[in-house]
Amino acid sequence: MEKVHFTEEKATNLATLYGRALDYRSAHPILGDKAADDAVRRIDYDFTKIGISGDRAASVVLRAKPIDDWAAEYLRDHPDAIVLHLGCGLDTRFQRLAPPETVHWYDVDYPEVVELREKLYPGAPNHTNIGSSVTDFGWLGQVPHDRPALIVAEGLTMYLKPESGTELVRRLVARFPSGELICDLFSRTAIRMQKLNAPVRKAGATLYWGVDDPHELERHGLTLVSSLDAAHWATPEVLARLGPVTRFQLRLLKVIPALARTAHIVRYRF
Ligand SMILES: C[S@@+](CC[C@H](N)C(=O)[O-])C[C@H]1O[C@@H](n2cnc3c(N)ncnc32)[C@H](O)[C@@H]1O
Repeated sequence: MEKVHFTEEKATNLATLYGRALDYRSAHPILGDKAADDAVRRIDYDFTKIGISGDRAASVVLRAKPIDDWAAEYLRDHPDAIVLHLGCGLDTRFQRLAPPETVHWYDVDYPEVVELREKLYPGAPNHTNIGSSVTDFGWLGQVPHDRPALIVAEGLTMYLKPESGTELVRRLVARFPSGELICDLFSRTAIRMQKLNAPVRKAGATLYWGVDDPHELERHGLTLVSSLDAAHWATPEVLARLGPVTRFQLRLLKVIPALARTAHIVRYRF
């Protein structure tokens, strides 16, 4: 068993990992992420106190699924890409997407998170872990910058200070010949209401960066390609797998657009 002593924002990756494990154990999984379930079973931690239960688990995988689908699409079109998976936590997206060996994948998170990843997950020739804050920009020197880049950041932007987040975007856009950024954004209302977010509160984490309109990031060199508010993350196929409580919550989001707009999944090109 692996011990874990994460605090604040680092501890939030245990909640999302657990959400994916619960999805795997459910009758109709959406991600089917066996590696997440295996990892949870190897971590010596009381996951029941983390603020994630069956229905919240659905919200974790509802966010992950379109991000997986968009990322897979990019990699199909760019088999020579490099992938920067920022704020990767303990996510097993590399295993889920199983990119071809011509793609090189970099998982980036704080050193203590990467240390645990290395104990939990096998290495691969086309995979590198980087232990650094994403906003200590020296880590970018470890990554080749002559290939198209797919940058994925799920559950990261809201933990960054706005000025560091926009600086990160500007540096990434300037560094690679072309690419896509796929990430999620919280609105300023979601940042103000963060005490209602149980996994964030229980981890003792603080959220800083809110973006109300995904077009706001276009001023940093990005072009918005797609944007889904929280009422539109589930495809009909995914909807069919959800339990009645989550389906009801999604119906509620559809009739209260202001609530749906507190979170977006976005895809930008540069
Ligand atoms: C909510 S978790 C999401 C983890 C993962 N993307 C997932 O979906 O399971 C947030 C992650 O962002 C990481 N993080 C927050 N700020 C960071 C920073 N400045 N540099 C690197 N990682 C950061 C945390 O350590 C944590 O692993």
